[in-house]
Amino acid sequence: MEFSLADKVAIVTGGSSGIGFCVARELLNNGARGVTIADVNVELGQATLEKLSAEFGSNKCTFCPTDVADFKQFENAFISTLSTFGNIDILINNAGICDDSIWEKEIDVNIKGTINGVLLGLENYIIKNKSGQEGIIINLSSIRGVQPSGDRPVYAATKFAIHGMTLAWGSEDHYSRTNIKVIAVCPGSTSTPLIANPANTNLGQPYEKIRKKNKASSNLSDQTPEQCALLIIDVMKTAKSGTVWIAESAEKYQYIMPSRLDMKTII
Ligand SMILES: NC(=O)c1ccc[n+]([C@@H]2O[C@H](COP(=O)([O-])OP(=O)(O)OC[C@H]3O[C@@H](n4cnc5c(N)ncnc54)[C@H](O)[C@@H]3O)[C@@H](O)[C@H]2O)c1
Repeated sequence: MEFSLADKVAIVTGGSSGIGFCVARELLNNGARGVTIADVNVELGQATLEKLSAEFGSNKCTFCPTDVADFKQFENAFISTLSTFGNIDILINNAGICDDSIWEKEIDVNIKGTINGVLLGLENYIIKNKSGQEGIIINLSSIRGVQPSGDRPVYAATKFAIHGMTLAWGSEDHYSRTNIKVIAVCPGSTSTPLIANPANTNLGQPYEKIRKKNKASSNLSDQTPEQCALLIIDVMKTAKSGTVWIAESAEKYQYIMPSRLDMKTII
């Protein structure tokens, strides 16, 4: 059965910019009761709150300053969402950075931040406070989380980690006890501030050379964050827990990892 977004309450991490902002907007377009923007950028967060309140009404959106890598701050976003809207049904684990030049922070935000969100949502706040039968956690991986590129190995590692944890937490073992779908979306290149200055976000010249070579040989067009958000909304409504979806060039399709046992050769 399709998951209805009507009357649901969501937290969107990194919702002040790019894909996260567009998903927050689409959730409200689809009738969500309330959306909390949980973002580390306070100035942008306040501006986002004003923008969404002007479009959807002042009681539909809140902003909670949050560094997702900090468990306590992330928990505060759940607590404040609950006190404002009374439920929590959806977590969009979207906050991320793509910058191998600060790779320890990249690991903290992308991996630790995503794990913090799943632990808080799955084991505590969504499981206890969803308004309907089912909740949803969407983890933002990347095409680099299914097919790495040599230009940013650490970013690829973080997005593979998100892919892996989604398969594990989205499995029937967990869904059968939580009724919370855990799903990954892997965007392709999407025109947002994240990729606006790629030359300064890797480990130096050899990595930059690889990036330029790969970019020159790609025949796929960049999508807009609005197009990516529509694909994410579609996945939320229809996809099963533990599934992984590519959202690239304004098209989506399921990515299925081969079974290792199918590769086993019996001699
Ligand atoms: N843009 C792309 O081409 C692309 C491709 C694949 C995957 N992704 C993934 O999609 C997600 C969104 O990316 P985007 O392109 O919209 O980026 P963006 O830079 O436009 O937005 C990211 C948002 O996350 C926030 N943020 C950063 N660190 C944070 C933290 N520690 N805590 C809370 N918020 C934080 C930023 O302030 C910003 O508002 C990321 O996880 C990214 O890795 C993007």
